Amino acid sequence: MKKIGVLTSGGDAPGMNAAIRAVVRSGCEKGLEVYGIERGYEGLMNDKMRIMDIRSVSDVINRGGTFLYSARSPKFRSEEGMQQAIEVCKRRGIEGLVVIGGDGSFRGARDLSLRGIPCIGIPGTIDNDIACCDYTIGYDTCLNTIMQMVDRIRDTTASHDRCSVVEVMGRRAGYLALNAGIACGATSILIPEVPYDFQRDVIERIRRTQRTGKMHFIIIVAEGIGGVDELATRIQLETGIESRSIVLGHVQRGGSPSVKDRVMASRMGYYAVELLCQGIGNRVVASQKSEIVDYDIFEALNMKKSIDIDLYRIAHEISI
Ligand code: F6P
Repeated sequence: MKKIGVLTSGGDAPGMNAAIRAVVRSGCEKGLEVYGIERGYEGLMNDKMRIMDIRSVSDVINRGGTFLYSARSPKFRSEEGMQQAIEVCKRRGIEGLVVIGGDGSFRGARDLSLRGIPCIGIPGTIDNDIACCDYTIGYDTCLNTIMQMVDRIRDTTASHDRCSVVEVMGRRAGYLALNAGIACGATSILIPEVPYDFQRDVIERIRRTQRTGKMHFIIIVAEGIGGVDELATRIQLETGIESRSIVLGHVQRGGSPSVKDRVMASRMGYYAVELLCQGIGNRVVASQKSEIVDYDIFEALNMKKSIDIDLYRIAHEISI
């Protein structure tokens, strides 16, 4: 292996830069030529890339987002797009790729691997929804951001004896909502993995909490449930408590990465290059109980991840 490429794809996540940095630095140290590919698979298909050196990744470990930019590329999913990308790799002599992103990005990596370009996936998404990993790059920073935002919302919610219904990101998964809900002491947490009953799980919980003397309430709602405007209106109608809805939005995806995201991203980036140098491709680097491991991409994409129901139960038991 003499030349490799690195790209970020899908939604950006804090810590992606740390992962790119580790790939570039460990690649250079091993004598590889490392290409930084811009805007994910779009840049690969259109040959938008540059050779990176050790200094080209200085002062990026602390920055959120991805300095290589990111994109979701519908064209790359077609055979034509795929062949275009393979042509570019062949012309450049790129023999292996590190793809930092989520499940969608790994599907692209799997398809490229199948067509003879060995790829290693690194899980980068705030959603923590990749089945083979118990943690994904960006998740920790995002959780901390949500916690800080909701702490602020709580100040004003408490000052007015209100109920705030806060929607957090996560696509179809409830990991962010569940853990942020615990960290913020939410009265109720609604996630797509657990069916809920509005009367029992929202109104009754608010009323019970109210009877113990608490006058303000935070309800955390996963994006996969949505509908926070309507929920706030219904809560106000049923309880008489003045209610507000807040969609936190993209503020959750930005910001300087946490220690955990920087360290894990660095370890994963290093590990990915090690695999490529051993001639191993078609793998996803994953974190399991803080250990870095790797899985076959096909296997990884077929794995299922479930929410920790005990954690969900505990969250509600202690939030009264
Ligand atoms: O996957 C990360 C994520 O932020 C999800 O939580 C969210 O559903 C989605 O991306 C938003 O995507 P976009 O930035 O394209 O609106």
